[in-house]
Amino acid sequence: MKIMVVGGGGREHAIIKKLKENKNVTEIFALPGNGGIAKDATCVDIGAKDIEKIVDFAVGNNIDYAVVAPDDPLVLGAVDALEDKGIKCFGPRKNAAIIEGSKVFSKNLMKKYGIPTAKYEVFSDIESALKYLDSAPIPTVVKADGLALGKGVIIANTRDEAKDAVRSMMEDKIFGESGSNIVIEEFLTGPEVSVLAFTDGKVIKPMVSSMDHKRARDNDEGLNTGGMGTVAPNPAYTKEVADECMEKIFIPTVKAMNAEGRTFKGCLYFGLMITDDGPKVIEYNCRFGDPETQVVLPLLESDLLTVMMSVTNETLGETEVKFSDGYACCVIAASDGYPGKYETGFEISIDKEVEDKVYVAGAKKDGDKLLTSGGRVLGVTAKGNTLEEAINNSYKALKKVSFKNAYYRKDIGKKALELSNKED
Ligand code: AMP
Ligand code: GLY
Repeated sequence: MKIMVVGGGGREHAIIKKLKENKNVTEIFALPGNGGIAKDATCVDIGAKDIEKIVDFAVGNNIDYAVVAPDDPLVLGAVDALEDKGIKCFGPRKNAAIIEGSKVFSKNLMKKYGIPTAKYEVFSDIESALKYLDSAPIPTVVKADGLALGKGVIIANTRDEAKDAVRSMMEDKIFGESGSNIVIEEFLTGPEVSVLAFTDGKVIKPMVSSMDHKRARDNDEGLNTGGMGTVAPNPAYTKEVADECMEKIFIPTVKAMNAEGRTFKGCLYFGLMITDDGPKVIEYNCRFGDPETQVVLPLLESDLLTVMMSVTNETLGETEVKFSDGYACCVIAASDGYPGKYETGFEISIDKEVEDKVYVAGAKKDGDKLLTSGGRVLGVTAKGNTLEEAINNSYKALKKVSFKNAYYRKDIGKKALELSNKED
């Protein structure tokens, strides 16, 4: 089988490595992939948002199955365009990808179908938003409606900060048209859990839970990033919480999307907060999370391609999705300075011994060399029989990887360990 994976980050590398385990896979193309992915797939210089070229490539190369991984092409309708040409795909169609593409849509969906989430108001004009903030509870959370490279959320601790956030989104358009409409919502507290789930629109099968580490610096300090590391499973996601999520969030979401005529097929990502009032949805994503995928897929024991195709064929109910009982930890090595300014072009050395544990996100090839080319450069994932073992193995493996100006957090999994000690 010839497979095409759209995207070019650590998530896509993890997906490709897992797909390769299927013996029927003869070739994998990554569009655009990256210098590290080039070890495991044929990289094709077509951007993930260039839908027309993606479709032409798939048709011209007799692609048997396509996986569209990033949010942008999904929201732009890549799956619709590929399916129109008869290409089988993993990923939601445009009308379902809106669950991530528009926060106004997802908040209204949750309200309409009684799915627990933070209380909120929607604004399309700046005056009403500012007026509302005169009496809104503080802290508050201001969110741009559309995609904003994962940066469209501002937590405001004072009224002035909240007003500044509104002005920067609606007036200065720091997130472009994404900020034309905004959501202002209640600030929730509690441990955060990421749950990715396969759904074919009929059944939903959650994967092992995970915990992201979004801030740049240790102890959750510093700026928000695309994710500096992950662990799985997440100790805050107990059996009771999982059961409650299934009943009050997962199944109702699948049903709600069906009722709206927007059946969701693919990987639905639930960003959850476990509050004192029970689990609530912080955000939906219409795709595998990054870097959650780098800890979740290594724990998947079932064949990924078989599971993905059962989602496409709507036979997920009859397909086993099994995860190992173990733990995984992924530490991201970034270019020093990220998410601000950073330098690139440094040679990356990866010891052969740990190559299978490395997922490359921001690197390009230069002859035989691999050079850094992005903020988040790579992730190193290791497994263990306990969370502590997985964390230690991951940091040990990271020592076998090096590049100049590498920066990584030293405390990935620390919060999870503290939580699991509390649960015991
Ligand atoms: P992002 O990945 O940029 O969408 O950031 C979302 C992050 O903002 C979440 O992981 C939470 O930590 C935080 N956040 C979003 N909404 C809320 C909320 N209503 N209450 C508290 N924190 C929130
Ligand atoms: N890790 C969060 C995301 O993929 O958006």
